[in-house]
Amino acid sequence: MKIYIGMSADLLHPGHLNIIEQARILLQKNGGGELIIGLLTDKAIASYKRLPYMTWEQRKVVVENVKGVTSVIAQETLDYVPNLLKIKPDYVLHGDDWKTGVQAHTRQQIVDVMAQWGGKVIDIPYTQGISSTNLNKILKEVGTTPEIRCQRLKRLIENKDIVKICEAHNGLSGLIVENTFVDNNGKKEEFDGIWISSLTQSAAKGKPDIGYLDTTTRLQGMQDILDVTTKPIIYDGDNGGPSEHFVFTVRALEREGISAIIIEDKTGLKKNSLFGTEVEQTQDDKKLFAEKIRVGKQAQVTPYFMIIARIESLILEQGMDDAIERAKTYIDAGADGIMIHSRQKEYSEIKEFAERYNKLPNRKPLVVVPSSYNQVTEEELIKSGVNIVIYANHLLRSAYPAMVNTAKSILSNHRCKEASDEYCMKIKDIITLIPGAK
Ligand code: SPV
Ligand code: MG
Repeated sequence: MKIYIGMSADLLHPGHLNIIEQARILLQKNGGGELIIGLLTDKAIASYKRLPYMTWEQRKVVVENVKGVTSVIAQETLDYVPNLLKIKPDYVLHGDDWKTGVQAHTRQQIVDVMAQWGGKVIDIPYTQGISSTNLNKILKEVGTTPEIRCQRLKRLIENKDIVKICEAHNGLSGLIVENTFVDNNGKKEEFDGIWISSLTQSAAKGKPDIGYLDTTTRLQGMQDILDVTTKPIIYDGDNGGPSEHFVFTVRALEREGISAIIIEDKTGLKKNSLFGTEVEQTQDDKKLFAEKIRVGKQAQVTPYFMIIARIESLILEQGMDDAIERAKTYIDAGADGIMIHSRQKEYSEIKEFAERYNKLPNRKPLVVVPSSYNQVTEEELIKSGVNIVIYANHLLRSAYPAMVNTAKSILSNHRCKEASDEYCMKIKDIITLIPGAK
């Protein structure tokens, strides 16, 4: 007799063990047999919720040592059917919570396919008082370590169709990127990581994005975000400064558990790229910039930290060929990824770049920042092979007009009632927003 149980087993708890135990008893009653665990791969899990804390190999070691388990195999998709067709088990066991909600459809599919060889589904009464969702919440409160946080970006790139990064410029916006999610027909959608933007970090301090905030100041500001988040962080390093400074930045970021720095191939006084040719901006010599990448890669201590090269050829109207040539040169110098920027309203420029870029033999992950061509969807970016999308400034851009409206309302009404009623969260909500206030 064969029993099949599909599970993620990231936070293995008594609920999982109960299902395995029920399977073991059932086998015993029937004179023995095989208990096969279909352990969902990181990719299969990431297709519908957050990436597991433990890798597939780590989860496998745990599960194969649980009493009663005969073998652990990979379940490569959320869909059980491919494995079931191979194994043709007599029973599939699962917690009875899947009889309702979005999982009900998956269950029915399994019932139908098992019927082909007389197999049955057994629903085990759900273990009350413990759930992965609660454990996950507790783990978030515990926080993370620099090593775990740093390594997470590479795991995300390997396992997700696209990695979604959103800007944060202080602790509060960091909390928003960390904790906001939506339920999209049973699929939990959330941001995968945080962008430390030179533009919004400067603006939040009332300064222009011209490199006035030095690295020490920016890293200090980032501490507030590190304090309250666990998601991986990509740091906007402007042009990285001179190589002699860049090595210090790489080491400091890596020590803090930052996953990647993006540096742009420009020289001279920093100006925001979205000004394009309206202001004087000079592109760096590609060989000199490649050398900076090389020096940075030599400075890092672990293999996990990523240096991503940002190409400004399209911003500065140097043409597509130049952009592709630079991508080749920077990858040869050791860049772990390429960010291509554009200030066109249409997506076509980036799309064309991606098509040509994807043909490079040693292609590395591709990063885009759709601030100008904002109509492009994640689905289109995935089709183009883009690996990381950065929403680079949207939390600050939405907060600013909201605050100006409130200020205007108070000034116009000579009191704050209208602003409080129309634009503000309740006093009770703000004083309890951050846990630990009472
Ligand atoms: C930033 O967010 O600071 C960036 C992206 O570098 S952009 O503003 O588009 O240059
Ligand atoms: Mg910037």
